[in-house]
Parts: sequence; C-alpha cells; structure tokens
Amino acid sequence: MRLLILGGTLFLGRHVVDAALARGHDVTTFTRGKTVPPAPPPPGVEALHGDRDGDLGALEGRTWDAVIDTSGYVPRVVDLSAALLAGAVEHYVFVSSISAYADPSRVPITEDDPTAELPADHGEDVAAHYGALKAACERAVEARFPGRALHVRAGLIVGPHDPTGRYTWWVERVARGGEVLAPAPRDQPAQLIDARDLAAWMGDAAQRRVAGTMNATGRPFAFARLLDGAEHVTWVDEAFLLDQGVQPWQDLPLWVAPQTRPGLRGFQQADVTRAFAAGLTTRPLEETARDTLALGGPPRPKAGVEIPPPGLAPEREAALLAAWHAAR
Ligand SMILES: NC(=O)c1ccc[n+]([C@@H]2O[C@H](COP(=O)([O-])OP(=O)(O)OC[C@H]3O[C@@H](n4cnc5c(N)ncnc54)[C@H](OP(=O)(O)O)[C@@H]3O)[C@@H](O)[C@H]2O)c1
Repeated sequence: MRLLILGGTLFLGRHVVDAALARGHDVTTFTRGKTVPPAPPPPGVEALHGDRDGDLGALEGRTWDAVIDTSGYVPRVVDLSAALLAGAVEHYVFVSSISAYADPSRVPITEDDPTAELPADHGEDVAAHYGALKAACERAVEARFPGRALHVRAGLIVGPHDPTGRYTWWVERVARGGEVLAPAPRDQPAQLIDARDLAAWMGDAAQRRVAGTMNATGRPFAFARLLDGAEHVTWVDEAFLLDQGVQPWQDLPLWVAPQTRPGLRGFQQADVTRAFAAGLTTRPLEETARDTLALGGPPRPKAGVEIPPPGLAPEREAALLAAWHAAR
C-alpha cells in the first residue's frame, strides 16, 4: 500500500510510520519540517514538506492508496487537504478524539452520542474548542470522502515518545520507588491506548478500507494497575486531595476525580466494542509500561507551546502524604 501521513514526526505519527514500514508499505510523510524527531527518520520514508494551512504544493499531482491524518485540528485547514486529496487517495483515516463528544460524563460513551457544538465565534481556538473542532474536522473529511473515511476517536494515547508525559509520569514515579501517593478508590477506571497499537490498527484499517466512526482506546482497567510494581502505595481520599488543591489530570495524570466531579468520567469508560470488532488489539499494560520507561523522555513542547510538566513534584507529594497521615 502507498500510504500518505499528514504528520508523522512527533509521536503517534512516528508509530504510524514504523507500523507501515514493518508491513512493507511505501510511506510518505507531509510536515512543515519544524518538528524534528530525536532519531533520524527511518530509511525508505519519503518526506514531503509544506504547510497544511495553505502550502500544499508538494501533494499536488500525486496519488496514494490511503491517507492517515494525525495533524488535523481546524476544519477549514483539514478541508484544504481533503479537497485536494479527494480525487487522489482512495481512503482517509482521520485521527479525532474522544473529546469530540458533547457530554463526557456519559458512561459509557458510544459513537452514537452527540458531538460537541462549535460556537460561531470559536476563532479556530484549538485550546478552547479542541473537541468541537475535532468533530467539525470529521464532518469536513466526510464531506470530501463520503463513505471512504474512518474517524478514529482516540482516547488517551500513551507509550514511547509521548510528548505529554502524562502516563510516562506514572511509570517513572513507580520506578523511582518510595511511598507513592495514589488517588482512591483503587478500582476507579482508567483507559488508554498504546500509540503503537493504535498506529498498527489504523494502518490495517486503511488497507482494508474500514469506514465509519469508532472510539479507539483500550478496555477500561482498575487505576491500581498503574501502580503495579510499586512497593508502598498510599491511597488517599479524593475529597482530601481536592481540598489540598491537587488538580485532577494535571497533578495526578489520568485521575479525573470521578466521585466528586463526574463530568469527565466518560473519558475513562468509552465503549470500544466497534473498534475491537474492527480488529483493534491492545498489548499488555506491562509491556507499555516497560517500553515507556525505556523511551519515555521529558514532555516536549507542542507547536512551540511549553506544556507544564504533569505530575506531583516529589516535595509536594511528600508534604501531601505527611498531611494525610497526620489527618488520620
Ligand atoms: N495525545 C493524546 O492523548 C490524544 C488523544 C486523542 C487524540 N489525539 C490526537 O492524536 C493526534 C496526535 O498526533 P501526534 O501529534 O502525535 O502526530 P504526529 O504526526 O506524530 O505529529 C504531528 C505532526 O504534524 C506535523 N504538523 C503540524 N502542523 C502542521 C502543519 N500546519 N502542516 C504540516 N504538518 C504539520 C508535525 O510536523 P511539523 O511540526 O514539522 O510540521 C508533526 O509531524 C492528534 O490529532 C491529536 O489530536 C491525541
């Protein structure tokens, strides 16, 4: 298969490239050339350069069997390349997000749930309207590739080279040892997907011309599994953590404080029946943890924007544990 990747050099796209090469596909990437992967691109990859927002010349006059779009955030911009590629590519895989849903408190979130509405004055502000913009991007792709597109509503993507450092923080925290603070209850759900599993599945789905809309993440598991291998875990009540100003997701990645703030609990319990029926498979969490520890790396800026490092600093964690023990 001749595969075009709109993106391909930061995280998920890198794994899409690797998975496609492993299956013997011809791979072309399209990027601005600003994001330089830590390792040189694998041999055999054709790297085209341009800008999705108005400089698509390098794509003109070319044909591919399929395109996987890992870098679409704004419908106007996505439409530019979708319009250009509609007659040049058979199948389109668009990487959307579980954030596209209007109500992330629903459990489980299914593909038939309504998507978020985009306000008229959204100003293409991706930080403010990420999910609604993703839903609008899906519609832009579908309009150009009716019945020839797969919309992949990805959950939390983790694994080697993850630029966000969220799941990476947990595996590094466990590896550091000592008393680890964890948010109770231990059986609250967590949900994620290894970027390598998502990448391999999208490549196969592109080859098989799978179309439709699918939540794409692993099956939910108990939060305690993130702490596998830790010798000393202290489970701290949700209310105590919130009282102390611990920020869900940011200070304790993957934690949404589901008992007190049910508004986001659907993000950890998406229905993945469709994607698994369409061939998605996931590796054991132990393998993801091991490889993330080996190849995690610090959080990287995205689009030049520094991301605040996720996770509790060691001194803050120690102070919280001391306060928790004193309060009991
Ligand atoms: N992280 C999560 O947990 C999560 C969850 C759900 C969904 N998602 C979605 O998953 C995808 C993550 O992909 P990724 O960032 O890891 O993909 P990637 O393909 O590895 O990296 C993004 C690529 O896009 C290129 N790019 C950015 N702006 C561009 C432009 N204007 N024109 C041309 N190329 C451009 C970048 O290269 P240059 O900078 O060199 O142009 C880079 O190669 C996103 O669509 C995200 O919304 C993520």
